[in-house]
Amino acid sequence: MTRSGSTSDRPIALEPVGKDNWAAILALELLPEQQEYVASNAESLAEAEQDDEAIARAVVSAGRVVGFLMYSAFGDDDEAIIYRFMIDRREQGKGFGRAAVAKVLEEIAKRGHVRRVLICYEQENEAARRLYAGFGFVEQGPDEDDEMIAVLELGG
Ligand SMILES: CC(C)(COP(=O)(O)OP(=O)(O)OC[C@H]1O[C@@H](n2cnc3c(N)ncnc32)[C@H](O)[C@@H]1OP(=O)(O)O)[C@@H](O)C(=O)NCCC(=O)NCCS
Repeated sequence: MTRSGSTSDRPIALEPVGKDNWAAILALELLPEQQEYVASNAESLAEAEQDDEAIARAVVSAGRVVGFLMYSAFGDDDEAIIYRFMIDRREQGKGFGRAAVAKVLEEIAKRGHVRRVLICYEQENEAARRLYAGFGFVEQGPDEDDEMIAVLELGG
Protein backbone atom coordinates (compact mmCIF):
# COMPACT_ATOMS: atom_id res chain seq x y z
CA MET A 1 0.00 0.00 0.00
CA THR A 2 1.21 3.49 -0.77
CA ARG A 3 1.16 5.72 2.24
CA SER A 4 0.38 9.36 1.70
CA GLY A 5 1.50 11.44 4.65
CA SER A 6 -1.26 11.14 7.20
CA THR A 7 -2.01 14.10 9.40
CA SER A 8 -2.57 13.95 13.13
CA ASP A 9 -5.54 16.30 13.14
CA ARG A 10 -8.01 14.69 10.76
CA PRO A 11 -11.40 15.89 11.91
CA ILE A 12 -13.42 12.83 12.77
CA ALA A 13 -16.28 12.03 15.09
CA LEU A 14 -17.20 8.77 16.78
CA GLU A 15 -20.91 8.17 16.44
CA PRO A 16 -23.10 5.57 18.12
CA VAL A 17 -24.25 2.79 15.83
CA GLY A 18 -27.86 3.05 14.72
CA LYS A 19 -30.16 2.79 11.75
CA ASP A 20 -28.59 5.86 10.09
CA ASN A 21 -25.10 4.39 9.82
CA TRP A 22 -25.68 0.61 9.99
CA ALA A 23 -25.56 0.03 6.21
CA ALA A 24 -22.52 2.26 5.78
CA ILE A 25 -20.64 0.28 8.45
CA LEU A 26 -21.51 -2.98 6.69
CA ALA A 27 -20.24 -1.53 3.39
CA LEU A 28 -16.75 -0.84 4.79
CA GLU A 29 -14.02 -3.09 3.39
CA LEU A 30 -10.54 -4.26 4.28
CA LEU A 31 -7.71 -5.23 1.94
CA PRO A 32 -7.71 -9.01 1.33
CA GLU A 33 -4.55 -9.48 3.39
CA GLN A 34 -6.10 -7.59 6.33
CA GLN A 35 -9.20 -9.73 6.65
CA GLU A 36 -7.70 -12.07 9.21
CA TYR A 37 -6.77 -9.13 11.45
CA VAL A 38 -10.27 -8.31 12.62
CA ALA A 39 -13.75 -9.87 12.65
CA SER A 40 -16.11 -8.67 9.94
CA ASN A 41 -18.26 -5.69 10.77
CA ALA A 42 -21.35 -7.86 10.24
CA GLU A 43 -20.14 -10.15 13.04
CA SER A 44 -19.22 -7.24 15.27
CA LEU A 45 -22.59 -5.53 14.83
CA ALA A 46 -24.41 -8.77 15.58
CA GLU A 47 -22.23 -9.24 18.65
CA ALA A 48 -22.83 -5.66 19.82
CA GLU A 49 -26.57 -6.21 19.68
CA GLN A 50 -26.27 -9.15 22.08
CA ASP A 51 -23.72 -7.69 24.44
CA ASP A 52 -24.68 -4.80 26.72
CA GLU A 53 -21.05 -4.16 27.51
CA ALA A 54 -19.98 -3.64 23.89
CA ILE A 55 -19.69 -0.01 22.83
CA ALA A 56 -19.72 0.23 19.03
CA ARG A 57 -18.82 3.41 17.16
CA ALA A 58 -18.80 4.54 13.56
CA VAL A 59 -15.76 6.63 12.62
CA VAL A 60 -17.21 9.53 10.66
CA SER A 61 -15.44 12.18 8.62
CA ALA A 62 -17.32 14.99 6.90
CA GLY A 63 -20.56 13.05 7.24
CA ARG A 64 -19.09 9.86 5.74
CA VAL A 65 -18.50 6.63 7.65
CA VAL A 66 -14.82 5.74 7.12
CA GLY A 67 -14.31 3.18 9.86
CA PHE A 68 -15.66 1.21 12.78
CA LEU A 69 -14.52 0.30 16.26
CA MET A 70 -15.78 -1.45 19.33
CA TYR A 71 -14.63 -1.37 22.94
CA SER A 72 -15.81 -2.19 26.40
CA ALA A 73 -15.30 -0.21 29.59
CA PHE A 74 -17.81 -1.79 31.89
CA GLY A 75 -19.05 -0.93 35.33
CA ASP A 76 -16.38 0.64 37.47
CA ASP A 77 -13.65 -1.63 36.11
CA ASP A 78 -10.35 0.23 35.80
CA GLU A 79 -9.54 -1.53 32.53
CA ALA A 80 -11.04 -0.87 29.09
CA ILE A 81 -10.41 -2.99 26.02
CA ILE A 82 -10.55 -1.91 22.42
CA TYR A 83 -11.21 -5.13 20.53
CA ARG A 84 -12.38 -4.14 17.05
CA PHE A 85 -10.91 -1.39 14.94
CA MET A 86 -10.82 -0.87 11.20
CA ILE A 87 -10.61 1.89 8.62
CA ASP A 88 -12.04 1.27 5.16
CA ARG A 89 -9.43 0.15 2.61
CA ARG A 90 -10.06 3.25 0.46
CA GLU A 91 -9.54 5.57 3.43
CA GLN A 92 -6.41 4.08 4.96
CA GLY A 93 -3.14 5.99 5.13
CA LYS A 94 -4.89 9.36 5.49
CA GLY A 95 -4.70 9.80 9.25
CA PHE A 96 -8.20 8.52 10.10
CA GLY A 97 -6.85 5.60 12.13
CA ARG A 98 -4.72 7.84 14.29
CA ALA A 99 -7.55 10.37 14.72
CA ALA A 100 -9.97 7.60 15.72
CA VAL A 101 -7.57 6.16 18.31
CA ALA A 102 -7.10 9.64 19.80
CA LYS A 103 -10.87 10.14 19.95
CA VAL A 104 -11.66 6.77 21.47
CA LEU A 105 -8.98 7.24 24.13
CA GLU A 106 -10.53 10.63 24.93
CA GLU A 107 -13.98 9.04 25.16
CA ILE A 108 -12.70 6.25 27.41
CA ALA A 109 -10.80 8.68 29.66
CA LYS A 110 -14.01 10.69 30.15
CA ARG A 111 -15.59 7.67 31.77
CA GLY A 112 -13.41 8.50 34.74
CA HIS A 113 -12.97 5.03 36.19
CA VAL A 114 -10.61 3.66 33.54
CA ARG A 115 -6.88 3.68 34.32
CA ARG A 116 -5.63 1.22 31.71
CA VAL A 117 -6.55 0.52 28.10
CA LEU A 118 -5.82 -2.84 26.47
CA ILE A 119 -5.66 -3.53 22.79
CA CYS A 120 -4.74 -6.69 20.92
CA TYR A 121 -3.59 -7.41 17.41
CA GLU A 122 -2.00 -10.13 15.32
CA GLN A 123 1.75 -10.15 15.78
CA GLU A 124 2.42 -9.62 12.07
CA ASN A 125 0.14 -6.56 11.97
CA GLU A 126 2.83 -3.95 11.63
CA ALA A 127 0.43 -1.08 10.90
CA ALA A 128 -1.45 -1.72 14.15
CA ARG A 129 1.77 -2.13 16.12
CA ARG A 130 3.11 1.21 14.89
CA LEU A 131 -0.17 3.04 15.25
CA TYR A 132 -0.68 1.99 18.88
CA ALA A 133 2.99 2.37 19.84
CA GLY A 134 2.68 5.98 18.70
CA PHE A 135 0.12 6.52 21.48
CA GLY A 136 2.36 4.92 24.10
CA PHE A 137 0.85 1.42 24.15
CA VAL A 138 3.45 -0.99 25.50
CA GLU A 139 3.52 -4.58 24.25
CA GLN A 140 3.03 -7.18 26.99
CA GLY A 141 3.56 -10.35 24.96
CA PRO A 142 1.12 -12.71 23.24
CA ASP A 143 -2.11 -13.96 24.81
CA GLU A 144 -3.39 -17.56 24.68
CA ASP A 145 -4.52 -17.01 21.07
CA ASP A 146 -1.04 -15.81 20.16
CA GLU A 147 -2.24 -12.24 19.64
CA MET A 148 -0.11 -9.42 20.97
CA ILE A 149 -1.55 -7.53 23.92
CA ALA A 150 -0.51 -3.91 24.39
CA VAL A 151 -1.41 -1.69 27.30
CA LEU A 152 -1.65 2.06 27.77
CA GLU A 153 -1.71 3.51 31.28
CA LEU A 154 -3.96 6.55 31.28
CA GLY A 155 -3.22 9.79 33.00
CA GLY A 156 0.37 8.97 33.95
C1 LIG B 1 -4.51 -0.29 11.35
C2 LIG B 1 -5.45 0.70 10.65
C3 LIG B 1 -6.68 0.91 11.51
C4 LIG B 1 -4.69 2.03 10.48
O1 LIG B 1 -5.58 3.00 9.94
P1 LIG B 1 -5.09 4.17 8.96
O2 LIG B 1 -6.19 5.16 8.84
O3 LIG B 1 -4.57 3.60 7.71
O4 LIG B 1 -3.87 4.80 9.81
P2 LIG B 1 -3.28 6.28 9.72
O5 LIG B 1 -3.28 6.76 8.32
O6 LIG B 1 -3.95 7.14 10.73
O7 LIG B 1 -1.76 6.03 10.17
C5 LIG B 1 -1.37 6.20 11.52
C6 LIG B 1 -0.12 5.40 11.81
O8 LIG B 1 -0.39 3.99 11.72
C7 LIG B 1 0.77 3.31 11.21
N1 LIG B 1 0.43 2.71 9.91
C8 LIG B 1 -0.76 2.80 9.27
N2 LIG B 1 -0.73 2.07 8.12
C9 LIG B 1 0.51 1.52 8.05
C10 LIG B 1 1.15 0.65 7.12
N3 LIG B 1 0.54 0.21 6.02
N4 LIG B 1 2.41 0.27 7.38
C11 LIG B 1 3.05 0.68 8.50
N5 LIG B 1 2.50 1.52 9.42
C12 LIG B 1 1.25 1.93 9.19
C13 LIG B 1 1.84 4.37 11.07
O9 LIG B 1 2.54 4.45 12.30
C14 LIG B 1 1.02 5.62 10.84
O10 LIG B 1 1.72 6.77 11.18
P3 LIG B 1 2.61 7.54 10.03
O11 LIG B 1 1.63 7.95 8.99
O12 LIG B 1 3.19 8.68 10.80
O13 LIG B 1 3.60 6.55 9.54
C15 LIG B 1 -5.86 0.21 9.22
O14 LIG B 1 -4.70 -0.10 8.51
C16 LIG B 1 -6.78 -1.00 9.24
O15 LIG B 1 -8.00 -0.87 9.29
N6 LIG B 1 -6.18 -2.21 9.15
C17 LIG B 1 -6.96 -3.45 9.06
C18 LIG B 1 -7.65 -3.80 10.36
C19 LIG B 1 -6.68 -3.85 11.52
O16 LIG B 1 -5.56 -4.29 11.39
N7 LIG B 1 -7.14 -3.37 12.69
C20 LIG B 1 -6.31 -3.28 13.89
C21 LIG B 1 -6.28 -4.50 14.68
S1 LIG B 1 -7.77 -4.79 15.55
